Amino acid sequence: MPEAGTLAGQDAAAGIGRLVVVGIGLIGGSLALGLKAASGCREVIGVARRPQTCEQAVALGVVDRAVTDIADILPELEAGDVIFVAVPTLTVEAVFAQLKDRVPAGVTITDGASVKGSVIAAAKNVWGEVPEFLVPGHPIAGSEQSGVTAARDDLYIAHRIILTPMENTADEHVHRIRKMWEAVGAEVLSMPVDEHDEVLAATSHLPHVIAFGLVDTLAHDAENENIFRYAAGGFRDFTRIASSDPVMWRDIMLANRDAILKSIDLYTSNLGSLRSAIASGDSEQLMGVFTRAKAARDHFTKMLAKKAYTETMEAKEVTFIAQPGGAVNGDLRVPGDKSMSHRSIMLGSLAEGVTEVEGFLEGEDALATLQSFRDMGVVIEGPVNGRVTIHGVGMHGLQAPPGPLYVGNSGTSMRLLAGLLAGQKFDTVLTGDESLSKRPMNRVANPLREMGAVVETGEEGRPPLKIKGGNALKAIDYTLPMASAQVKSCVLLAGLYADGETSTTEPAPTRDHTERMLSGFGYEVQRDGPRASLKGGGKLTAGHIDVPADISSATFFMVAASIAPGSDVLLQHVGINPTRDGAINILRAMGADITLENQREVGGEPVADIRVRYAPLKGIKIPEDQVPLAIDEFPAIFVAASCAEGETVLTGAEELRVKESDRIQAMADGLEVLGVDAKPTADGIVIQGKGGEGAVFGGGEVDSLGDHRIAMSFAVAALRAGADIRIKHCANVATSFPNFAELAKGAGMNLRVVSLG
Ligand code: S3P
Repeated sequence: MPEAGTLAGQDAAAGIGRLVVVGIGLIGGSLALGLKAASGCREVIGVARRPQTCEQAVALGVVDRAVTDIADILPELEAGDVIFVAVPTLTVEAVFAQLKDRVPAGVTITDGASVKGSVIAAAKNVWGEVPEFLVPGHPIAGSEQSGVTAARDDLYIAHRIILTPMENTADEHVHRIRKMWEAVGAEVLSMPVDEHDEVLAATSHLPHVIAFGLVDTLAHDAENENIFRYAAGGFRDFTRIASSDPVMWRDIMLANRDAILKSIDLYTSNLGSLRSAIASGDSEQLMGVFTRAKAARDHFTKMLAKKAYTETMEAKEVTFIAQPGGAVNGDLRVPGDKSMSHRSIMLGSLAEGVTEVEGFLEGEDALATLQSFRDMGVVIEGPVNGRVTIHGVGMHGLQAPPGPLYVGNSGTSMRLLAGLLAGQKFDTVLTGDESLSKRPMNRVANPLREMGAVVETGEEGRPPLKIKGGNALKAIDYTLPMASAQVKSCVLLAGLYADGETSTTEPAPTRDHTERMLSGFGYEVQRDGPRASLKGGGKLTAGHIDVPADISSATFFMVAASIAPGSDVLLQHVGINPTRDGAINILRAMGADITLENQREVGGEPVADIRVRYAPLKGIKIPEDQVPLAIDEFPAIFVAASCAEGETVLTGAEELRVKESDRIQAMADGLEVLGVDAKPTADGIVIQGKGGEGAVFGGGEVDSLGDHRIAMSFAVAALRAGADIRIKHCANVATSFPNFAELAKGAGMNLRVVSLG
């Protein structure tokens, strides 16, 4: 027995005794080597038809001993031993026949065949039913190499093993096989047999058909005799798997016939459409296929970076370690405005003609919107360096997406899309990440229902949102219960599809990018103080959109420069829309030295270069009318308030409690850790600023709760800290400001990013 106390020893104790590998090739040999390396079993016995293979397997140390006839070793097996059948799929039945009536009680049989339906059929042919000791399995690992010499002890590390136990498979045996695979570093999951065979037909068997078929086609083509000599990376990458074992793959094709035929038919029909597009010079159709495929492959590449066949991508764990001191200096351009980036994709998609966008924010939130419209059939090129080209499909050109639209962390995507989707002919489901799944959606579902939409939410009005298509919408006159641009925009966007004139009246001015951009696309929007109205049934005309830098992102550097002596930054080309300039007004009221240079209008939005120099700040009572105009900037403003002389009081900001986190509580908790007196209230906070030019914040560990703006605010605080500030859960900074750390470091902040996973 292996040494007691080791993990492998425990696994062995959990039930893996001897391992018998029938078929000592890449798959069987690698399990043998892996288990031996992990001391995961007592002995490995190989079974191979050819004596040479047996000798080679022993000589290579893959097995402890080997026999050519399994009957020779069956009598010595006992409860807890495992027989792993790793022969080509269609040979499995012959092996089962040899095992029939000779398997000692308590021995588990499993296999590694790529098709599970045929293994089940083989078992039924031999035993009359699937025996309770058979655990069908499939390791999703391998390579184009085959044979015992290709076996490796690390083949299964971080790979998935799919088990397809039947109703009568005994738990004891499933548990043993699960433990065995876990001992070699694999992740084990279960799936019904049919589902396994369909998924594998599409993801593995079809690619092999195509690779074998392509290489054979080229190899037979006399005119192409030089093809292999000149074939470069593309051919090599695409056809690597055509070097796989022919017998194994012939067996898989025959064993999984129906599922593979279904996949081939689907692919043939898509290839046919692609052929027609090439023949007729249909550039848009080609761009549609290629851009969608590229986006899907890029996403898959990220998944692969973690491991093969990952079900969902677990969020990467990112910690910021912000070191104390420093100042910020230089000319900076922060990324494009998030609100405008979302809207550019939405309106560009629904417009007639091609919209070119510049300055698009390549953050995860705006990309989630972009992906949603791709999923609804819109051809979107890019983004490449902030440039996006959208081939508009017109107001009624969206198509039903293939599945739920996943918008990640992005409240703006979910709420604005809800309005647009309520007007479509097809049903949709909107889902999001853990944080978004906790945020209130009745604020948009309720007015949409008043318009006649059928919208279902999850529990307590949370996501997912299920929106029924095909309902005629009627215009409403809606008075918003809260100052929310997302709610206003949602109603106005639904109003595009409503019969009559839809109006919104807001309790306080909120960002008006929807209204401005609709006008920019030639859609008439009437505006009268707090009221905005539009008539349904119009159309949008494509155009050019220049997205300015996001004032919400610029605010981190405005605060940084204001609190760190010796700072002087110029923030270029920042949007200063009067519905967004609250942070400038509040910081100025606190004594900040902010000047707006080169003020101009770009595409219907006011823009300026913002110069900020260090200046001592004082605490203030923040005017409530500024709250909606600075709604996303408060976490950073609280950092400024902590450095100001005297008390800062915020009221009328209960909306902060339903952002990506409860921002009042999250900031109060973090500030307390760092030694600042910050008292949360129901609708705001009271902060006792320390003033002066010395350290304001002690060091310590704070939790951003996965909220991008909390993370960046505490990073800025380090400029006036006495020791390191460690900020946990910072991966979501990528939702709005993917290059924050790079820009911050370039400007003079001392920030380390530690990334795990
Ligand atoms: C946004 C509106 C605001 C803001 C969000 C973006 C928008 O949300 O916090 O980051 O683009 O319309 P609310 O409308 O919920 O205040």
